[in-house]
Amino acid sequence: MNNNIISGFSKMNKNAKIEMVASRFTNPDAIIDELKSYWHENPNIQRLFDEFSENTISNFYFPLGIAPNFNINGKMYLVPMVIEESSVVAAASNSAKYWAPKGGFRAEVISTTKVGQVHFIWNGDVKKLQSYFPELKRNLIEGTRHITENMEKRGGGILDIELVDMSDKLDNYFQLKATFDTQDAMGANFINSCLEEFAMILKEHLAESEHYTGAEKECQVIMSILSNYTPECLVKVSVECDINCLRNAGDIDDPEHFAWKFEKAVRIAQIDPHRATTHNKGIFNGIDAVALATGNDFRAIEAGGHTYAARDGKYRSLTDVDVSGGKFRYWLTVPIALGTVGGLTSLHPMAKFSLQLLENPSAQDMMKIAASVGMANNFGALKSLVTKGIQVGHMKMHLLNILNSLDANDLEKAKAVEYFAQHKVSYNSVKKFLAGMRQTVAANL
Ligand code: MEV
Repeated sequence: MNNNIISGFSKMNKNAKIEMVASRFTNPDAIIDELKSYWHENPNIQRLFDEFSENTISNFYFPLGIAPNFNINGKMYLVPMVIEESSVVAAASNSAKYWAPKGGFRAEVISTTKVGQVHFIWNGDVKKLQSYFPELKRNLIEGTRHITENMEKRGGGILDIELVDMSDKLDNYFQLKATFDTQDAMGANFINSCLEEFAMILKEHLAESEHYTGAEKECQVIMSILSNYTPECLVKVSVECDINCLRNAGDIDDPEHFAWKFEKAVRIAQIDPHRATTHNKGIFNGIDAVALATGNDFRAIEAGGHTYAARDGKYRSLTDVDVSGGKFRYWLTVPIALGTVGGLTSLHPMAKFSLQLLENPSAQDMMKIAASVGMANNFGALKSLVTKGIQVGHMKMHLLNILNSLDANDLEKAKAVEYFAQHKVSYNSVKKFLAGMRQTVAANL
């Protein structure tokens, strides 16, 4: 078994790594050529990409698309989206264009508070720990001044620290639970640095203070880490119109019936976790694509969003709807912890471009934009689902992928796009269409 362990891979140079990986294939030279063909032609940019991660051998391309016509609080945006799923940018664009003249997306940030925890095991008199906590808290704040100083100058910093007694759930388990304002930074490094310093100060406090005796003078810090559950780092986005204005919403002519079906679809996602998961996935299609385009950590955002969706103990839809008094109101409330400075935001040339395209938004503006796109994708998905179904549009957008997989040339693609504007797309129907075309061409040679 140990014979299969590879040692020192990270220490090899890039070419040696590529050669080793390629040697696993039957055609190593072709593999090496292919991997290298995706290197950036500018070696400085390639080095930058290589240094984003570890053991890098090539680049993995994803398309960067633009969803125009996003009216968010009266300001029009062209939104950059990085996603491989063919229908997502189209769905976001359609919804954006649909809502733009109806008042667009109204977005507000409820709070930007982020959370971090020091998890520790301590065996002693809880009342003592609680009564000397104000002294410890002062030490924690003073002792991290060297880390927080700059963030404070930018208006952020540590907001509060509490001692949480969790010993009823796990013997002798406590937390230092801190809240932070990280301004325009996502803040992960800032928060984690503060937390690791907190852990040391906690240990010193217990060891050096005369209040504690015996075993109380020690604690085992299990870990110090931010939480990606940021239920207070919250943004709300909504759309609203008269039900009558929904007339052109889908294939349904009757706007009342459309609103009725739409409302039922949302209620189903509120009570059934299977549907809720897919419903919310559609929201994250948009949020993740914007997060990726702007160099943000989409895994963190997703993780927090899904936990928020289950905050009352049952996983539910992140959106809600009200159809009453002749009005259709639809809204999304979601935690989105992101940054517009630091991390990859200015290092990745395309993330930098995306932020420039969005006119260098603050983190709060960015939360509003990402949430609006999530909402747009979700509205687009439900609009299709409750009317003509998802596959017609999805397969239309997927047509070029099918054509590419069948090695269609430019002329064949153009003819196919024209033909399938009026016909149902499926892998077989496209294959048949191409075969027919190719037969006609062959016969005319
Ligand atoms: C596909 O990526 C997303 C949808 O499944 C979302 C939904 O069902 O609401 C269409």
